[in-house]
Amino acid sequence: MTTPIIELENISFRYPGAYDAVLNNLKLKIMPGDRIGLMAPNGSGKTTLLHTIMGLCRPQEGSVRIFGTPMETEADFTGIRPRLGLLFQDSDDQLFCPTVLEDVAFGPLNLGESRSQARETAIKTMASLGIEGLQDRITHRLSGGQKRLVALAAVLAMKPEVLLLDEPCAAIDPPSREQLIGLMRQLADAGQTLLVSNHDWGVALELYDRVIVLDGRVLADGPPQQVRHMLGSQLAPGGAAHE
Ligand SMILES: Nc1ncnc2c1ncn2[C@@H]1O[C@H](COP(=O)(O)OP(=O)(O)O)[C@@H](O)[C@H]1O
Ligand SMILES: [Mg+2]
Repeated sequence: MTTPIIELENISFRYPGAYDAVLNNLKLKIMPGDRIGLMAPNGSGKTTLLHTIMGLCRPQEGSVRIFGTPMETEADFTGIRPRLGLLFQDSDDQLFCPTVLEDVAFGPLNLGESRSQARETAIKTMASLGIEGLQDRITHRLSGGQKRLVALAAVLAMKPEVLLLDEPCAAIDPPSREQLIGLMRQLADAGQTLLVSNHDWGVALELYDRVIVLDGRVLADGPPQQVRHMLGSQLAPGGAAHE
């Protein structure tokens, strides 16, 4: 039997000092090759869920298994994190080096590549995204869309087995958005396991084979067409829920 990549069992999470739990008895299983859209309005716990998978939020109840291994301590997560690539909702949380090349080479260097290997990996990854021209730019001076693409390059340079993308298309200019959707299409076609939070049903129907609707727990989980049909009248006219 194939081992799930990610398995969350009865997860409940409450931020310190908060009265209500953000995640409530949540169960979720992600299999290799799944391409999942996480659809939910703002404040529904999408980021918290992705951070729980990464071990950045530690639930008060329930269990997290990644690649079949129970994640109990920080050391468990430290060992597994390089195999999971999280694109942060805010690119400024991801990028912290002076230049783009340093930011993209940071992960491969950390994984043990030599300086020249890491540089080569970074340049190759940027070229695969069509952004090699940005390599000498000062990261914090880039536009929001450019930063998002550089952040994606920084994640992909580590060759993660699963990509967790937190609203990759939000708050960026339309050309960068189109470029990102094209890149997600390429990744999906290449068999990359994807968990993407976003609100765009057009993208969901095209790219994902599974859609999860979240509100603290999983409200619906299935093929995009089926879930969309089930939600029916809750969708805004034009087909975009909670844009
Ligand atoms: N660091 C935090 N401390 C306290 N509450 C938080 C924190 N981060 C998020 N929340 C709250 O948790 C809920 C879920 O947030 P989040 O996971 O960011 O949702 P989403 O990504 O779907 O917008 C929201 O009500 C938000 O205000
Ligand atoms: Mg969020």
